[in-house]
Amino acid sequence: MNIFRLLEERDKELELILDSIQDAITIVDKYGITKYWNNAAVKMYGIKKEDIIGRHIKDFFPSSLLPRIIKEEKSYENIYNSPRENSFNIISASPLYYNGQLVGGISLDRDVTDHIRTTELLNKARSNLDVLRKEVSAINKNRSSFYTILGNNLKFREAVNLARDMARSNINILIYGESGTGKELFARAIHIESGREGLYVPINCSAIPNDLMESELFGYAGGAFTGALKEGKTGKIELAHKGTLFLDEIGDLPLHMQPKILRVLEDGMVTKIGSAKSIKVNIRVIAATNKNLEEMVEKGTFRKDLYYRLNSVVINLPPLRERRDDIPLLANRFVQDYCMEYGLNILNISPQVMDAFIQHDWQGNVRELNNVIERMVVIAKNNKLTTLDINTLPENIVVRRKTAVEETHNKENPYDLNNILFNAERDAVINAMKMANNNKSKAAKLLNIPRSTLYFKLKKYGI
Ligand SMILES: Nc1ncnc2c1ncn2[C@@H]1O[C@H](COP(=O)(O)OP(=O)(O)OP(=O)(O)O)[C@@H](O)[C@H]1O
Ligand SMILES: [Mg+2]
Repeated sequence: MNIFRLLEERDKELELILDSIQDAITIVDKYGITKYWNNAAVKMYGIKKEDIIGRHIKDFFPSSLLPRIIKEEKSYENIYNSPRENSFNIISASPLYYNGQLVGGISLDRDVTDHIRTTELLNKARSNLDVLRKEVSAINKNRSSFYTILGNNLKFREAVNLARDMARSNINILIYGESGTGKELFARAIHIESGREGLYVPINCSAIPNDLMESELFGYAGGAFTGALKEGKTGKIELAHKGTLFLDEIGDLPLHMQPKILRVLEDGMVTKIGSAKSIKVNIRVIAATNKNLEEMVEKGTFRKDLYYRLNSVVINLPPLRERRDDIPLLANRFVQDYCMEYGLNILNISPQVMDAFIQHDWQGNVRELNNVIERMVVIAKNNKLTTLDINTLPENIVVRRKTAVEETHNKENPYDLNNILFNAERDAVINAMKMANNNKSKAAKLLNIPRSTLYFKLKKYGI
């Protein structure tokens, strides 16, 4: 019995079934003549049933898989195909047998245009993301230089601008500033901004014992002295070749080292301890100190010639108490940073605490503020607080309590008669006290009130 006659007999039922399938189905006989073409195929290829049925499949699809699978008697699965521009499908096809006899072939085409489009969009989005990621990392690279230095205070901005202007030159820079004012931060930023290809090599002159200083800075040849490494050691100056040598706490550089450093600054020659030959280095020096070098030069504890070599450009970093206007900016940023670090929602700083921050003298400058805030964030975390209030403040930072008068008159309504009278009376008392040179009996007489009343009013107005 012929399968296609069978198909014809059951045509109605089959048509219903095949038409309800989402994939395009094509059935051909063993000669490649199209016998069945479902609705999905109509839709997918825009070819009507009556046009294609009874015709050779190759008339419509010259590279159709069906004749091939019939010839080869072989199945194909998930072959990717783009029959038209902007249309993509995946085809599976296999030979059909009836009673062991090859009778034709069937193919099933799944439209994946939407998938492909989505994938393309996804790829496009991904490559956009890559571009953005690169941009962000470029920005972040910048962020590690001057962008991380916070402060809008005028004097401070001058320091930042000077540092930035000088960064790209090879001029040596001297940074003055109390502890914690950001000397190291500036030195790093200058190095990064300089674009020098070598390393940034910091050395803290106050932290290295006098007799190790020379080997730290200049290195030594193998076997130069007992206890020396066999292979010798590279000094910090050589390490900073083509980069930046940051001489921190230069005021503590021992006197006997000063001419040696001077020589490096003058001719760029470095000689390892125990070595006969000198090597030439190209370094840029940034020095920092909180000592008054000029005074040290006068006293003879710092060499004049070295001082003049170092101070071509001097950057003065103001202590925090001279840039109190920057305290809210710094405090808020540090709170944000620590909240992120400790996985907290960003905490608020209560107005009283901010006030105390602004009043405080910050002997340890920005570093002290930073440390205090970390401590407060931890306390807030442990106590599940949502605000950094005065309970989190360390004891040494004093909250200046407002007088009752300040409290009530902060929220003053200028049309409130009580307020107007209150202010007028307070001003009258203050004026009388001024006129009377703070002599209370005289002031009471001027005001024409009893002395006891004056006492009461002085207290009431917090004068
Ligand atoms: N303007 C600023 N903006 C942001 N952070 C700052 C600023 N100034 C200082 N800091 C931070 O304060 C801390 C101390 O800064 P830094 O180490 O640069 O100070 P320093 O002057 O070298 O101090 P010391 O003399 O004690 O070595 C660092 O954590 C630094 O990131
Ligand atoms: Mg430092």
